[in-house]
This record gives sequence, C-alpha cells and structure tokens, in this order.
Amino acid sequence: MSVHKSVRHDSALKHATGQALYIDDMPEPAGTLHAALVLSPVASGRLRKLDLTGAASMAGVVATFDAGDIPGRNSIAGPGKEEPLFAADRVEYVGQPLAIVVAATLDAARAGAARAVIEVEETDAILDIATALTRRAYVQAPSTLQRGDPEAALKTAPHTLSAEFSVGGQEHFYLEGQIAFAFPGEDDDLVVHSSTQHPTEVQHVCAQILGCDFNRVTAVVRRLGGGFGGKESNASWVAAAAALAAHRTGKPVKFRLPREIDMIATGKRHGFDYRYTVGFDDEGRVLALDAVLAADAGWSLDMTPGVIARALTHVDNAYWLPHVRAVGYACRTNKQSNTAFRGFGGPQGVVVMEDAIDRIARHLGRDADAVRALNFYDEKGDETPYGQKVEENHLPRVWSELKREASIERRRAEIAAFNKTCPVLKRGLGLFPLKFGISFNIPHMNQAGALVHVYTDGSIRLNHGGTEMGQGLFIKVAQVVAEVFKVDIERIRPTATSTAEVPNTSPTAASTGSDLNGWAAYEAADTIKQRMIAFAAGHFGADAGDIEFADNAVRIAKPGSNQVISFNELVKLCYLGRVSLSSTGYYRTPKIHWDGVAMRGRPFFYFSYGAAAAEVAIDTLTGESRVLRADLIQDCGSSLNPAIDLGQIEGAFVQGQGWFTCEELWWDAKGRLRTVGPSTYKIPGSRDAPAIFNVTLLDNAPSKEATIFRSKAVGEPPLLLATAVWTALKDAIASTASDRRGDDRTAVRLDAPATPERILAALATLKQ
Ligand code: MTE
Ligand code: MOS
Repeated sequence: MSVHKSVRHDSALKHATGQALYIDDMPEPAGTLHAALVLSPVASGRLRKLDLTGAASMAGVVATFDAGDIPGRNSIAGPGKEEPLFAADRVEYVGQPLAIVVAATLDAARAGAARAVIEVEETDAILDIATALTRRAYVQAPSTLQRGDPEAALKTAPHTLSAEFSVGGQEHFYLEGQIAFAFPGEDDDLVVHSSTQHPTEVQHVCAQILGCDFNRVTAVVRRLGGGFGGKESNASWVAAAAALAAHRTGKPVKFRLPREIDMIATGKRHGFDYRYTVGFDDEGRVLALDAVLAADAGWSLDMTPGVIARALTHVDNAYWLPHVRAVGYACRTNKQSNTAFRGFGGPQGVVVMEDAIDRIARHLGRDADAVRALNFYDEKGDETPYGQKVEENHLPRVWSELKREASIERRRAEIAAFNKTCPVLKRGLGLFPLKFGISFNIPHMNQAGALVHVYTDGSIRLNHGGTEMGQGLFIKVAQVVAEVFKVDIERIRPTATSTAEVPNTSPTAASTGSDLNGWAAYEAADTIKQRMIAFAAGHFGADAGDIEFADNAVRIAKPGSNQVISFNELVKLCYLGRVSLSSTGYYRTPKIHWDGVAMRGRPFFYFSYGAAAAEVAIDTLTGESRVLRADLIQDCGSSLNPAIDLGQIEGAFVQGQGWFTCEELWWDAKGRLRTVGPSTYKIPGSRDAPAIFNVTLLDNAPSKEATIFRSKAVGEPPLLLATAVWTALKDAIASTASDRRGDDRTAVRLDAPATPERILAALATLKQ
C-alpha cells in the first residue's frame, strides 16, 4: 500500500539542507534584470505627479514603468472589476504600487525606486472598521445569513446577552517572500516562474496586463516557500509586474519583494469587529443569535466576498442555532487589500459562538464545556443555517475522546487549586469543538486536472494543477498514483505545476488540494492502467478481470497458469503494441451547489471535525502568557499520509496561536503599517509551541463521502483549533474573579491578539 502510510515529504531533506530550489535559486541568464517598486506614501488621495526621471538616470537603471506603460488593461482583477496594477489616478493605501524600476542589479533598482518624486493631494482616509461602518463604505453589499425569526426568538428567550469584541488581521509571513522571474520569448510569448498558489490566475493577469491571449503566457511553479493564502491573489500582480518589465525590456526580469515591502504592499488576514445578541434558556441552550460581523476588507474587493461567505457559514461552528441572523459587512478601508489566509474567514466566523458560549456559561454559573456539548448538532437539529445537513457528525466522539485523553476534569480541579494558591500566575483551560466545511464556496472552482506519463523504462511522471507549498500535496498525490499502479513511490516523479501541462486550474486553496488533484491524478493513472490491462488481456489471452497489479508487477491469471511479469515488462510490451501510456485525468466535486445571494445550498462536500484543549498561564503583573499544553484531535478521514497530516495540524495550530496571541499588525494615524518585519511583528517561535503537545488523528473514521481513498482535507481546519488558546486565556483572566461565579462581570472581553497589554486591560476591568 502506498496510501495511508507515513511516507516522507518528497522535499523534506532538501528543505532541511537548503538544497530545495526556490525561484531565487534559479540560475540567472546573462542580461537578467532586477526590479523594485515605487509605492504610495499616503493612504488616500489623488496622484498629482509621478516623476521617474531621477530614477531613470541612476547608474544601472535600465527602465521605469508606470500605469501609462501597460500595453493591455491596467487591472489585476477579473473581468468587470477594476484593480489597477499601478495606481494611475487615485491612491488608496500606503504601499500601493505606482511604478516599477528595472536595473542591472537589485541594489540599483532599489536605489532608483527611492529617487521617484511623488506628489499626492491627500484626501480623507478611512483607517478602521468603525469609521467604514458609519460611512457605509463597503467593497460589496452586506450579506445576510438567516434562519427562522431571531428577533421574535430573542424577545421570548428566558435570557439574552449582548457583547462586542474584535480580532486583528494576520501577516502570512511565508518564509519565501513574493517573487516572480519572467522570461520573454519568441513573438512576445512569456514564461513566468512564480511563487503562486494560483498559476492559472498568474497566466490570466499577465495576459491581461500585456494585452495578449492566455496561450502566450505559461506560468510555472515548482514549489513555494509557504503561501498560507497570501500567494493566492497577491502573487498574480507580482508576476504581472515582472512580466510587464520583461515584455518591455526583452530581458529576463527577476522581481522579489523584500520583507518590508512585502508586508507593506500585500494583503493579510481580515481583522473583524463583532457585535451580537444571543438568547438562551436556563440550561444554556442557545435559542437565537443575532450577529454582525464586520470585516476590514482593505481598499479593494480581492477575495473578501469568499472570506465573508466562509465567516458567515462558520458562525454556527458545532452548534445548532434554531434562529439566527448573521450579517457580514465588507468594510472598505485605506489599507492593504485583505485576502485569503488559512481558514479563509472560518476562524473569524467560529469565534462568535465561542465568545457567546463562554458568556452564557458565566452568566448561568455553568460549566462552559457542558454548555458547548449541550448545543452540538444532533437529532434536535442537524441542519446548518444555510441548509446543509450536518452529516457524519463526529462532534460527540471527538468531544468525549478529547475530555478523556486530556484528563479535562482532573486538570480543571488542579488548575483551580493552583490558582487559589498562586497570587501572580493564573492558569486557564479552554476547549473548542470544530466543524469546518470542505470545498470552495464557489462551486465551479471545485475541479481539477492531472497529466500522467508512463515512460518505457517504467518510470512515471506526474503533473497536476495543485501547487506544493510545503503542505505535502505532491507526495500525497504521488502516493495515489503509486497506489493505482501498485508500484513503489520512488518511481513517481512529481513535476512543477505549469499552465502548459494542466490548464484552467483552480488555486491550491480551501484545503482541497489533495481532494481535487488526488482524484484527477487517480483518473489519469487509472485510464493508463485500464489500457494496459486491456492490452495484457489480449496479448496473454486472459480475461481483463484476471489481470492484477501488485508489488511492481502484474499477475496474469489464466486457468491452469499464473504468469507474473514485471510492471516494466508490461510497459514495454504496451509500447511495442502501440498503446498510449499517457493520459489526462479530470475530477469535479459532486453534490455541491450554492446560492451566494440567498446564502443557501450545499457549499461543502463534507465537514471535517476536531476538538482541542489548551492550557495557558498568564502573569497577572506583566500580562505575558504561555501555552503550557495543547491536546488536539483532528478528523482526517482515512489519512493519505498520517505524518504529513500531523505536521499540518501542529503547524496550523501554532499559526492560529500566533494570530490569537502575539501577531499584532499596527498602523499609525497616517495609515502606515509600522510592523513590517520580525523585530516588530512577532510570529510564534519554536519556544512558543505548547511545551506538551499531544496531537492525534481521529482513528477509524473513513470519510463517508467518496473522497480520494476516504481521506479528508487537513490544510486549514486545525488552525481553528487554536481558538482553545483564546478561550483558555479568558478562563485564566476570569479566575481572578472566581468568587463571582454566575456574575456577568466575570465574562471578559479579550480582543485578539491577546497581547500582554490586552490581558492586563482585561484583568483591570475585572477588578472594578
Ligand atoms: N502548509 C505549509 N507548509 N505551507 C503553506 O503555505 N498553506 C495552508 C495549508 N498548509 C500552507 C500549508 C493553506 S492556507 C491551505 S488552503 C492548504 O495548505 C492548501 O493546500 P492543500 O489544499 O493541499 O491542503
Ligand atoms: Mo488557503 S487560505 O485557502 O490558501
């Protein structure tokens, strides 16, 4: 068996030794030029003057290009939408690209860019969600998810509570920054190597900027040094800028954003402001929720509609909400255009009910974990507010396994005892159940293609539309192909993603990479295999049903004889017998449909489930916090590769932990992002990972749906498990007022990221 095994990542050693080739490692042909951006220094205004003559006259500078130099359409957005590559008239945020300077060396390009003379007539900027809401400044109309009559249900509910809080954005901090290397070819054709999750969009945007047909542009991606959603749309404009420069100069152009520029110019996770009212009964059963989720979209649309839709479809998380209204606002601010980030609005959706349940439990003086379980989807309600049935509900199972494995009851008692005796340090425990929908919310995106060649030496070349960004997609899909042919994984050579090999692809995103490309590759491999079987049957005079692939060999069972030939031998025979040993494969996800206006349908092929318990300690004098222990259970169906999935779960959790605790984006009053590198923007380090970190995959849980080998997606869901850290921090803070159980004032507002300042502020409100 090749699948369900912990096969090592195909690049693991290369990553660890530095031998993996990234775009910046590619040999540079003679004449290669380097590029740097000229950026807007103000958040909002009219561009009065952009003088690049000083830049152009610098030693080493070859050319400068701005909006007027674009031969095609100055837009990096899809048809009908306008989002300029280079601002031509209005500038919308500090860091918006205005022009590109191309030079013989990187230093010369950057020095040239610094010489640009920019004059902007400043206009009033919107820099926060609250201002955008009052001015009704949106990048799209508000969307509403509704079931039942929340207003009436709130009126009759025995108890109601209202609260507000907010969560911040998050920088992707991929280790490899945004980069593209564009090579001009014959007749204005262009090949662009891009660190992108979405090669097809790179192809489209480059063609749109150059004003040429898609068939003139080839986008190639061997690997990304991390994407996390940040290279789903942003990589496209970086590639298009490189393409423009290559096209205009006729030279190869390498364009890499330094970290600071990367952080200033590109979008991030959406921060959200929330306001909600929840109605419930004496036991804590939720009767109605009325919630407002306001996202900071930044200056343009980008992928905000999808993020809002996913936030709204994850407000319910694990809980049955009989009456609900959730309104999502896409607030337009003069900041970076926010974009996809692991979880894609899901994390920003689930926090609403987690906050609400904590408050309900404190209000009633009940155990929050019990209140959570009381509200799980079950027979009393098994349909989401958007009309999809909650099938294959693993919630009760993950919950009871988590409580047992993590000894929750015993530890709650221990923590309470500790908190009584220790006046300075306080510990807290938080639990979190997870239900996360898998599929792109936009049904047509759920398709994929693959291309498999079997060569006459028996080696196999694998190509598909998914991109490898460290998540292990290439090894998982290779495992699938090895499984189809029943050959060793070493025979399979995964190759760079290219729009020339598999066209019209979707981004590798929404955790669907292995679901989609795994099936597409299966189909391609199986097509070849069926041809080989048909040929072997004729050649050996056997029934097709009697031909079996196993252990790098093929068994031909005939009455009275049992012949075994090697896989290689059959490949050679097929070639001599003129059988095609190459095939495409194609897959589209079944069963899904979605009405994005009514917000109803079945947007998700299936749900992935999980549960987490986090224990934290806070220092009540300094506000510092630590995660002492985390226990996670994650449903991966029948995992294609448990080792890879384990790595995904651990990494996602710590990334989520960073979002909830230490990663703080800070803009000054002029809208300038001031956290632009690791010295001021703190991502979690190795010592921030939980000291005790127990991660298990839910065992014996093959997907009920026909997913590839009954596996489930893993890329994003475990990031949401870090919600347990936030809940644990609130628990630790509330322990300072444990004498006031059943008192609403013990419920704390803790905005994320829960920095030391915010923890101290929350502690201070409890003392009042
Ligand atoms: N893991 C690594 N190492 N690097 C990444 O950039 N991106 C995440 C996740 N895991 C990412 C990662 C995101 S945002 C997604 S959507 C999925 O991987 C995409 O890959 P998949 O669909 O193959 O899981
Ligand atoms: Mo992941 S945010 O869907 O790239």
